[in-house]
Amino acid sequence: MTCVPWCTAGYGIETMTIKTKFFVVCVVASLFVLALVGNVLYHTNQDILCFMRPKPLTAYQTRDGLTGVLDLEDDDSMDFFHAKGMKRRLPQAIIIGVRKCGTRALLAMLKLHPKIQAASAEIHFFDRDENYSRGLDWYRRHMPYSYPDQISMEKSPAYFITDDVPERIYKMDPSVKLLLIVRDPATRVLSDYTQTHTNKVERKKPHESFEELVLDGSRINTKYKAVRTSMYSKHLVRWYSRFPKQQIHIVDGDKLIRDPVPQLQEVEDFLGLEHKISYSNFYFNETRGFYCMKDERTNKCLSDSKGRKHPDVEPRVMQKLQEFYQPFNEKFEEMTGKKFDWP
Ligand code: A3P
Repeated sequence: MTCVPWCTAGYGIETMTIKTKFFVVCVVASLFVLALVGNVLYHTNQDILCFMRPKPLTAYQTRDGLTGVLDLEDDDSMDFFHAKGMKRRLPQAIIIGVRKCGTRALLAMLKLHPKIQAASAEIHFFDRDENYSRGLDWYRRHMPYSYPDQISMEKSPAYFITDDVPERIYKMDPSVKLLLIVRDPATRVLSDYTQTHTNKVERKKPHESFEELVLDGSRINTKYKAVRTSMYSKHLVRWYSRFPKQQIHIVDGDKLIRDPVPQLQEVEDFLGLEHKISYSNFYFNETRGFYCMKDERTNKCLSDSKGRKHPDVEPRVMQKLQEFYQPFNEKFEEMTGKKFDWP
């Protein structure tokens, strides 16, 4: 029988001296220990790039492409992240509104920045009494894991129009940075109407026309919430009475739609972050009619509920709305020191 000695374990071991056997065992054991230590070092030196799914069981991906699954509710499972200084932190920046002005787009685009971690869902901590009464620790537990050098953020557009919110946020952290995105107020009303109208139609609920809601006889109906939300200067007064102007950065939502990068770079500056978001992160999607995002791990457009086609409404009603907002817009520009190309 022909046999290659090194492939036959029994033959090899039988012919070895005790010394050689001891040597081989030591070499194998050392290799094993080295592999183990190497593996641990490799894993503990990764930077977490993102958590890919919401809690509690979530996949993660590191900056070096390592992926895994964690139970975020389980402390043992989280030891690796705690060791890296990852924690759920109260936000250092909040998008406070305005509803239907591009709050989701702004947050999604800012998440392209490696130094930003953002909560996916709207937390509604400061505007809903039942959440606020649960305390700051409840709020913190709804924030994403972040590294000490990252900024964690959330967006809840209802904050902008809710009376108690500026005071409550101030109490949490008087130095928190606030982002406010606005767009042409009349178009915002139409966008707001479109969202509510679509939901009502889908649920087969009764619905009124835009004209019926916006007009009260020949006047603008200020009882309609969507109309009041677009009176930006009225709401901003409350915020400016609590926070210094420099702490509230205004994003132009119409410009964010047309050309997102300059708006995002202004936000990077405001947050004290290096410019990392660039034109290479965007492509224009002809079908959607909006910019979509891409980087090494993302290639996505916002959901279909963003960028809905607005219904055709009577031009004279839109015109009336625009005239109605004129004084509020002038006041808003005066307060913020920014110019907007609203009609
Ligand atoms: P419309 O649906 O009326 O077009 P919010 O996230 O605050 O609800 O705002 C929704 C609005 O974001 C949309 O209003 C849309 O115009 C705007 N938006 C801005 N950038 C967008 C993008 N890249 N993709 C889709 N919608 C975007």
